[in-house]
Amino acid sequence: MLALLAAASQPENLSILSPASPSAESIKGLLILVCAITGGILVLVEGILIYALVRSRRRAGRDDAEPPQVYGSKPIEIAWTVAPGIVVFVLVLLVGRVLWEVRPDADKPPPGAKPLYVTVVGHQWWWEYRYDSYDGRELGITTANELHIPVSEPGKPPRPVYLNLQSADVCHSFWVPRLGGKTDLLPGRANTMWLQADQTGLFLGQCAEYCGTQHANMLLRVVVESPEEFERYLAEEAKPAIDPTEKTALADKNTFRSLSCVNCHTIRDKQDTRVNGTFGPDLTHLMARKTIASGMVENTPENLRKWVLSPNSIKPGCLMSGFELNEREMNSVIGYLKSLK
Ligand code: CUA
Repeated sequence: MLALLAAASQPENLSILSPASPSAESIKGLLILVCAITGGILVLVEGILIYALVRSRRRAGRDDAEPPQVYGSKPIEIAWTVAPGIVVFVLVLLVGRVLWEVRPDADKPPPGAKPLYVTVVGHQWWWEYRYDSYDGRELGITTANELHIPVSEPGKPPRPVYLNLQSADVCHSFWVPRLGGKTDLLPGRANTMWLQADQTGLFLGQCAEYCGTQHANMLLRVVVESPEEFERYLAEEAKPAIDPTEKTALADKNTFRSLSCVNCHTIRDKQDTRVNGTFGPDLTHLMARKTIASGMVENTPENLRKWVLSPNSIKPGCLMSGFELNEREMNSVIGYLKSLK
């Protein structure tokens, strides 16, 4: 039991049977109830079948004459039409209740709540997070692949998280099993969903709609932290990138700015307006992220170098190309990226 509980708190745990959010809790309840009802029906039907097989099997010493043939019986026919009808009706009611419970009402958070609003944009094959507002404060922070949210502690104001889900290209689906059900991100429309984590920790998930070659590596990481830690995270993310003053660091930055990286990536900087591409992830605080390539590999200098040199070596089919940088440019780019704390 202890081992099971320990496993439940591991980030590798993706089971919908260990929910950490009210909507995931409702889905788990529905799953168990539906399995119990359908399991009961299975046992009943198979039981009658086995009973009939055993009871009416051919036995020695009995004649082989045909048993009496019965044609039609109104009461039995009514019974086996009405009973499944009732079962289906009950299932529809149960599903309807859960649909109601998991339905987000972003315009009306519960009274006293401190809601967080985030726009999630699915890209081939990474996640963009735009923090819109928290507890009534406008945020305007953009980051990628690692979503930080505050925990809702019992007895304190709830901190629901409302996600506005959009897509930049094809259909994706946001699914962090322990925090809620799947919701699709569709081009040309916005879907909404809500989460409310009741424990801190790392929660993993996965794009749940086939979206191209790297669909399986479009991983989700949700970091649930205490309200204080979350405030610190917001404060750090809101800052512009550190401006290098030292000579080599400045040269690294200028090299980066002279390369085509700037066409796709944004680095918010005090005076710089040139690094403002939106096709790829925002790199302003790249080093605050534990992973790169949408959760595929750890964010270490070696992996970063491998990635910049040849993104395809880590993520085949990736839409970022390797730009065949020479050794000097490579060192400068990695040097600059490492400074983006
Ligand atoms: Cu995005 Cu599958």
